[in-house]
Amino acid sequence: MEAAQLPDTGTGRDEGVLRYYRLAKRAEWQVRELPWGEIPPIPEARGSAEKQARRRDIWRSVIMQQLQADTFACEMASQLLNAAPHFEAKLYYSTMVQDESRHTEAWLKLAAETGGEGERDPYLDELAEMFLDLDTLEEKVFLMQVFFERLIIPRFRMIAAASRGTVLEDLCNRLTIDDGIHHRAGVAYERLLLEDANKKQKNQLVKVANRMLPIFVQHALWRPKARAFLGALMQKRDVEMLKQDLEEGIRLAGSLGIDLSDLELPAFDV
Ligand SMILES: [Fe+2]
Ligand SMILES: [Fe+2]
Repeated sequence: MEAAQLPDTGTGRDEGVLRYYRLAKRAEWQVRELPWGEIPPIPEARGSAEKQARRRDIWRSVIMQQLQADTFACEMASQLLNAAPHFEAKLYYSTMVQDESRHTEAWLKLAAETGGEGERDPYLDELAEMFLDLDTLEEKVFLMQVFFERLIIPRFRMIAAASRGTVLEDLCNRLTIDDGIHHRAGVAYERLLLEDANKKQKNQLVKVANRMLPIFVQHALWRPKARAFLGALMQKRDVEMLKQDLEEGIRLAGSLGIDLSDLELPAFDV
């Protein structure tokens, strides 16, 4: 349905979210369009059998973390679809539910092609539990779309850069676009939701962000056993990246009119 045919809900304030509905429809893709069987699923390692097996374990752990994240995103997107009162937002969230479910399908297939699922990230489970339990729609949109989906995009870029010429790279490039839309749609919708919010409601967002940030930092710096030996090497770069990402997230929250003077940035150890 073209936007012109959409019923007018009378609010006239929802154009922002509707724009992302149209973008999402245009960016829609199918798992079968990925180059399965044409190029390797993950980078192929050279060297001894032992070295090859170790590289494979590393990639499998990367895939597992994303599979875990997108399976949780399915639940979260469906909560948002059910909780949003605005017609345009519901329309948009119906596409996000499909996106997250398609992402999960692709990760499941990629995990199967690379030897099955790996170790779960306990901090991601903790974040999922916290997000799903949040009380209000404003809190859910804020933590999931404004913060989390924004923070995950540079990680897709990093994985893509390290896996050129593979199905994994192709998938990460698609996810960069999809999650870019999810994030920007969330910012637009949060802006609308906060138009009539009072100071207490806005402060509540800072409170939940303060609960979320330390767990997010642990999630971002967590390494499964397969990647433990890479830890020291990557830790410094990861911490730098995380700091920049968090600072940008905070600037963005400020632009939504939220007073961030009570926001507590977690301390990180390098
Ligand atoms: Fe996703
Ligand atoms: Fe997403």
